[in-house]
Amino acid sequence: MSTHLTRRNFAKGAGAAALGITASLSAVSAQTSTESPPKPAQGAAATFPDGFAWGVATSAFQIEGAVREDGRGASIWDTYTHTPGKIRNGDNADIANDHYHRYRDDVRLMREMGVKTYRFSVAWPRIFPNGTGQPNTKGLDFYRRLVDALLEAGIEPFPTLYHWDLPQALQDRGGWQSRDTARAFADYAGTMAAQLSDRVTNFFTINEFFSFVDIGHRGLETTVDGKKGRIEFAPGLRLSNAKLNQVRHHAVLAQGLSVQAIRASGKAGTRCGPADNLSTAVPAIETPDNIKAAELATREMNAGYLTVILEGKYTDTYLANTGKDAPVFTDEDLKIISSPVDFIGLNIYRPSAYVVASERGFRPIPFNKSHPKMLSSWHLLGPEVMYWAPRQLHSLWKTREIYITENGCGASDELSAGGIVDDSDRIMFLRNHLTHLQRATAEGVPVKGYFHWSLMDNFEWSEGFAERFGLVYVDFKTQKRTPKLSAAYFREAIARNAVV
Ligand code: FCB
Repeated sequence: MSTHLTRRNFAKGAGAAALGITASLSAVSAQTSTESPPKPAQGAAATFPDGFAWGVATSAFQIEGAVREDGRGASIWDTYTHTPGKIRNGDNADIANDHYHRYRDDVRLMREMGVKTYRFSVAWPRIFPNGTGQPNTKGLDFYRRLVDALLEAGIEPFPTLYHWDLPQALQDRGGWQSRDTARAFADYAGTMAAQLSDRVTNFFTINEFFSFVDIGHRGLETTVDGKKGRIEFAPGLRLSNAKLNQVRHHAVLAQGLSVQAIRASGKAGTRCGPADNLSTAVPAIETPDNIKAAELATREMNAGYLTVILEGKYTDTYLANTGKDAPVFTDEDLKIISSPVDFIGLNIYRPSAYVVASERGFRPIPFNKSHPKMLSSWHLLGPEVMYWAPRQLHSLWKTREIYITENGCGASDELSAGGIVDDSDRIMFLRNHLTHLQRATAEGVPVKGYFHWSLMDNFEWSEGFAERFGLVYVDFKTQKRTPKLSAAYFREAIARNAVV
């Protein structure tokens, strides 16, 4: 795949030279060099609402390292990464970005970029090494120190409580297949709210249901460039439909129970909501019929997750489709699952489908073979999703506060001999997604902030260190951090509160 891309880029560059573009560009700059540069058209700037929360995101397992320090227990990702054959190049996250020891430097990097908010995650096994019981003071202290450093730097902390690193001890007792895990998660969420809500107002509960439930408990068969592949996450199970649907149910139950626990244990005014990768259908052609069809499709594609959380019931289609494999649940469960949240976080990378209206409601149209993509095998490019996902969330469920909790792309970044990283594709990606997001805010969709994934290159799950998602380049041998050109782009966008 990478050779293929390299060849293509080479051909494009050669083409430009052949057409004399280089020559005409220098002619343009010669023409304009004596004149003052054009002023940006003030009124036309694509700005975001005042107070828009610009931030970056990371997660504990992907950056912290220090996996055996200060009483931390093992997580399912420790087990999984140390299982031969599971991670590209045999990488593991024992050290990762060594953020556990270098968090002060990382906070400084954020401050220099001008970010206002930081979404990180708390490692459950640092707080409850065995999943339940007495909290580990040293684990709690780390997050207190981190929060203090952020506040000192003028950056608002937005912790996520579950970014997939389930304590291995809980997996040994059934993991998400057991309803008790949902209860254990709520106890842990309540503990964190009690411990941090003097200084933290906003908590994200659970990150990306589909990823840890479906990809972790079933896996995803893929075909890229005609080649079959499989995406799999810890704990790496292949459950039957009935068991998988039950795991989904326990995950959304954990969502509801954690909201209740945070409300019960956090300081008054503590706020929370999930951060989900809403599967989003984009209307292929923007007509009223297709817009409606896309909404219908999005509602159904998320029936087991955000739809049941926000509607308090499984859709008829979901129950009909799952049939005898439907999850076992009670009305009381549904009430818990739909405990009101303060906001919804959306992790947005790509559209799940483009659709048009049809007699049956909607028709997904297949992605053309030539549809453009970013580096990761799964990462088709479709920046319009950044407009449609929040718009649909707002129109389907009247969500009053939306955060983009993740958006970004992997790229084949290399540090040049001169010590710089010119990540043109990430800047293109960012500019296009921000353009569509700005359309949403300008039309009144209540998006309150945007967190870029990620602050820095880190351990990208099954891809190990091979896929770099950071605004900051990390040399994993020396731990040296070098902001990429995209970091300068992002700093400029934040400073102007606008698409640049
Ligand atoms: C999301 C995950 C995040 C990171 C990005 C690239 O699905 O939440 O941890 O891996 O993808």
